[in-house]
Amino acid sequence: MAGTQTLGIIKPDAVASGKAGRIVAHLEGAGYTVRAMRMSRLSLREAQAFYAVHRERPFYDSLCAFMTSGPCIPMVLERADAVRQLREVIGATDPAEAAAGTVRQLYAESKERNAIHASDSDDNAVREIGFFFSEAERTGLWG
Ligand code: CMP
Repeated sequence: MAGTQTLGIIKPDAVASGKAGRIVAHLEGAGYTVRAMRMSRLSLREAQAFYAVHRERPFYDSLCAFMTSGPCIPMVLERADAVRQLREVIGATDPAEAAAGTVRQLYAESKERNAIHASDSDDNAVREIGFFFSEAERTGLWG
């Protein structure tokens, strides 16, 4: 069965331009519960490690520089079929190709500065949630 949690990151472009609140509201409107969330300025090493799967791509250095250019907002997002549904809600990587009403069509600037990241598989969701959040945070069993 598909998992009920995925990782979303509101990227530095959307945080800097004051769109974070609208994006969170959009995700909640799409049925997601925000299980954990924080504002974080990634170090270059963290960005390189998070996006290591893309390290041979021509856009890797630029992507890592962008992701460290200002604060971002990682979130654990919860609902049934979390990974697949979130990718529908955020739309295509390139906002010019994203369907009407998706987060990237509404809020992204470009293929790189595309407002939000979402895990692309259940396995990656587990890895990416673990990159940012403890088990206690992920489950809400803290305090
Ligand atoms: P994300 O979903 O975070 O996964 C990898 C990121 O790399 C992607 O969103 C974009 O920000 C960026 N990216 C992917 N393809 C390109 C590209 N062709 N040019 C620039 N950036 C890209």
